[in-house]
Amino acid sequence: MTRKIVALVTGDGSGPEMMAAACSVAVEAAKKDGLEIAFEETPMGWNAYGKYGDTLPQESFKRAVEIGTIFFGGVGDPKLDSTIGAEKPEMRPEARCLLALRKKMGLLLNFRPMIYYKELAHLSMVKPETIPDQGVQQVWIRFLLEDSYFGNEDLMAELQPGDCERIGVKLKKKVTGDEKLVTDMAYFRQSTIEKYIRAAFNYAKSVGLPLISIDKANVMARYDFWRRIVTRIGKTEFPDVHLTHQLVDSANALLFTPAKLHGVIACGNEHGDILSDGAAAALGSMGMMCSSAINPDTGQAMFESGAGTAPTLAGQDKANPIGRILTTAMMLRHLGANKGARAIEDAVRTALKDGHRTADLCDATYVGNILGTQEMGRLILSLL
Ligand code: IPM
Ligand code: MG
Repeated sequence: MTRKIVALVTGDGSGPEMMAAACSVAVEAAKKDGLEIAFEETPMGWNAYGKYGDTLPQESFKRAVEIGTIFFGGVGDPKLDSTIGAEKPEMRPEARCLLALRKKMGLLLNFRPMIYYKELAHLSMVKPETIPDQGVQQVWIRFLLEDSYFGNEDLMAELQPGDCERIGVKLKKKVTGDEKLVTDMAYFRQSTIEKYIRAAFNYAKSVGLPLISIDKANVMARYDFWRRIVTRIGKTEFPDVHLTHQLVDSANALLFTPAKLHGVIACGNEHGDILSDGAAAALGSMGMMCSSAINPDTGQAMFESGAGTAPTLAGQDKANPIGRILTTAMMLRHLGANKGARAIEDAVRTALKDGHRTADLCDATYVGNILGTQEMGRLILSLL
């Protein structure tokens, strides 16, 4: 048995419940490939604040980065954001933990696959007849750095003294609401787009899917730049991958007809954040979203929740663990445990096909048994 340590952030809200279910599935499935997964807790989020006085204890941050593979259950809680977070905005854990990890580890590629199976089309929010017999694959690969997310932090030091005040550039944690002007600097670096889009093209080529690049090139400079680079690299290096460009507003409309977005989908950080929630909801529920963030150079990776922490369901054993469980399949594949990864995906598909549901997957007409978080986890475990 090979042993692999994985840093574990169980997180806030319903995170710990969903992660407990997902960790058991991951440990069991990995055995199929002779892999022993040893989770090591590196607490972060509001739960960590309660114990250590910091949503990002430095010891946790250091250790998680050092381990280099993180299973991240999601951080944040609207209640604490508006109480402690109002007094200490720098403690809000989304930026303090998640964005800091992404940046520190250089996690450029954010995979968020949405797979529509014909036999599960009735679970989705789109008209089942819009799903072709062979299903639909939307492999979203969000560009996870730079853009509007990191612009101010990354570029502020380039400005002259006084410029920030004059043009309203400030960090989010310093915003008071009394400013005359506030500016987010959004940017893409040529070298980063090139690295990113080569990885996306290579992925599309390896799975035999077309590449759909999303932008707002009709209005914004950075997306015009993006489209020119994507077009050039497509033409010169990947003439065999079918490339189309889609404006972000029309891409958003196409979420209702998923087959029109069948392929590997490349998009900027902010667009990817917005569209991937919509895509997951169209697929059936935000609770089904799985997500991985990878540094293509070092292989460092964080397996994220992508879909928040379901704070209103916390402590009630109601949140859907499937997104977290499918995320462990991505983690296992990254660690070379392909049989285990496949077994997890098949088990989830079987559980759903057999009609097992968590509350978020049922509409008012549903009469069957509704499974709790742990029950769904145990069922998937038994199907491995
Ligand atoms: C996501 C989340 C994060 C993001 C938040 C929690 C910082 O919404 O992973 O999609 O905006 O990237
Ligand atoms: Mg998001």
